[in-house]
Amino acid sequence: MTEPAPSRTGFYPGTFDPVTSGHMDIIERAAGVMDRLVIGVAENRDKQPLLPLEERLLCLRTDIVPLNEGRANPITVIGFTGLAVHAARTHGAHAIIRGLRAVADFEYENQMFGMNQHLAPDIDTLFLMAREGHQYISSRLVKEIARLDGDISGFVPPFTRRHILKRLRG
Ligand code: COA
Repeated sequence: MTEPAPSRTGFYPGTFDPVTSGHMDIIERAAGVMDRLVIGVAENRDKQPLLPLEERLLCLRTDIVPLNEGRANPITVIGFTGLAVHAARTHGAHAIIRGLRAVADFEYENQMFGMNQHLAPDIDTLFLMAREGHQYISSRLVKEIARLDGDISGFVPPFTRRHILKRLRG
């Protein structure tokens, strides 16, 4: 008799200020290869986010609703302060998930990977390459384009787009 496969949990940390179509693609693909996926939204005050943590959580929780249809284990979204590896462990994760865009991301991600491996050798990091068409998307540029009245609909999911516009136009 075959034993039931152990449940593999992934933890996808980020600032998500705001969540972009590139992040949504990583979320969908990571959810496809893991049994459970927890998205961890870092408070990350150092980055001086445009959106407070509660609003970043709201955007993600609303925009992932379609991805959760029919899923046995719905993707969950949590906020965290402190170390990503601690939050990953608290949520029972076996692996941290990160998206990689171009070569420019490599050095930073490699550093984080090394530090996280040292802090928590039992939690590996899995990298998913951003799809063609998402390689150039960045949260910082999305905010700049929105501030300058450009169209951000191709770069962010629908609720997040409306939320950013509401926030910027008061
Ligand atoms: N497609 C398109 N864009 C992508 C993408 C993808 N697949 N993946 C990331 N991006 C972009 C984002 O839009 C964002 O753009 P920006 O630089 O213009 O803001 C950028 O890549 C990175 O943002 P994000 O994915 O939200 O992650 P982050 O780099 O802000 O996250 C944490 C960093 C939260 C993972 C890290 O700071 C952390 O772990 N903090 C907790 C404290 C800790 O553990 N510190 C020790 C770390 S070793």
